[in-house]
Amino acid sequence: MTATDETGLRKQLVDERIVRFYFYAALLYLTVSMLAGFLMSFQLIRHNPLQGLELFSPGRWRMVHTNAIAYGFLANGFLGCLHWAIPRLTLQPVADQRLSWVIWCAWQGVVLATAGGILLGHAQGLEWGETPIWVDPVAQLGLLLVAINFMTPISRMKGPVYVTLWYFMAAFIWTFLTYAMGNFVPQYLVSGSSAGAVGGLFIHDLVGLFVTPLGWGLMYYFVPILTKKPIWSHGLSLVGFWGLAFFYPLQGIHHFLYTPIPMFLQYGAVVSTIAVELVVATVVINFFGSIWGNFSIVKTNLPVRWFYTGMVHYFLTCLQCAFQVTLTFQKIIHFSDWVVGHAHLVMFGVFSMWIMGMMTYLFPRLLKREWASLRLCEAHYWMSTVGIFVMASDLILLGLFQGWSWAALEPWDASVEFSQPFWVLRILAGLSMFGGLLAFLLNLILTLRSPVPEPAEAVAVAV
Ligand code: HEM
Repeated sequence: MTATDETGLRKQLVDERIVRFYFYAALLYLTVSMLAGFLMSFQLIRHNPLQGLELFSPGRWRMVHTNAIAYGFLANGFLGCLHWAIPRLTLQPVADQRLSWVIWCAWQGVVLATAGGILLGHAQGLEWGETPIWVDPVAQLGLLLVAINFMTPISRMKGPVYVTLWYFMAAFIWTFLTYAMGNFVPQYLVSGSSAGAVGGLFIHDLVGLFVTPLGWGLMYYFVPILTKKPIWSHGLSLVGFWGLAFFYPLQGIHHFLYTPIPMFLQYGAVVSTIAVELVVATVVINFFGSIWGNFSIVKTNLPVRWFYTGMVHYFLTCLQCAFQVTLTFQKIIHFSDWVVGHAHLVMFGVFSMWIMGMMTYLFPRLLKREWASLRLCEAHYWMSTVGIFVMASDLILLGLFQGWSWAALEPWDASVEFSQPFWVLRILAGLSMFGGLLAFLLNLILTLRSPVPEPAEAVAVAV
């Protein structure tokens, strides 16, 4: 096959424009979400610049912060990457490229309606399921269409099903079921501690059965391509997949330890959470085995560095989780800022880093030109990495101090007072992460404005 034929085939397979549009949407929501994070952070240090404006109530913007991250940034980022990876892996286009655009528009409608609904006071009273009840059916339909659009090429492909596709197929089915369970069951069917148990499962499965399989699936796709080496062990990759499938859905109740939910369920959740750490270890070992002897690649290849930094964070968060899930630890850290530190470490330190790595790799390919500035690419990485390291360490340490203070029955106000310097440091760390994002956006604009090289010069772009 000639190079022109190959390019033509790729064009038919992959709609590169939609990948770009998903990425633009993701970056827009990440920016909004970070600004919302600052609003809440300033409120906590009693310097809310928008005090007294109901529409800018920090409580509402806190929900916008988390929802814009989950459904705006992560979902859009992953959908863009899936549009790139699945047709390449299966050698089949998505079911219908027009459907992809319908989904794109509908999904942005879901995210904007969710934000608007929350700000107008229509939030559903469910953690992470705040999507107003009138948006839920549309989001559910959107998830069904996403599954149909991507499962069609997978069902049509010939040859072995790579582990990446195992993860993707599972994610499409699990996400659909998870969303239905979390948004409809506690709202309409069960109440009290049963609703709490379902809610806990929903929060956890959103991370474990939506974000995690898409994230790891994409790592299994991109890492071998970028490192030009196969994955170390196919057997271990299957252990990781089935371990996740078995243990993850058993953990939900660990969000509600020491509650009226029956103790045998709480113990079950604790044990399976610890078990998942072992599963995670197999996956991380497999990826480190894959670059064994070739570690210098993380110095020279920025996307690979983003990926492996995320993997180290993933291992650390799950290790942290194996301890924090024990009842002994819970006595101290429950309701403290430890949990917020943990949440940022996993959502930003892992999945956002992977998406940033994939964007850093894909944008030059989508825009057919090199990054305008490799220095800005490096600045993005370092400011994000330093920022998340400081933010997570700061909040995790603060959580311990808060827990000890509450356990000693000191007045609540005392903990709010000594938290102030830690919360100021969180803002500084957030500024570093936000600065990294601005460096990336500036680089993107400069790249978009740079001339497209002549076809003869358009050689493979390397970062
Ligand atoms: C500019 C940087 C950021 C700042 C200043 C910030 C600040 C905050 C604040 C103040 C909260 C509420 C904490 C509380 O209620 O006590 C929060 C919660 C949260 N943020 Fe951020 N955030 C930032 C970036 C991010 C990013 C990039 C992500 C994900 C990719 C993220 C994910 C979360 C999550 C998951 C929670 C919920 C934590 C929980 O309920 O335990 N944040 N953030």
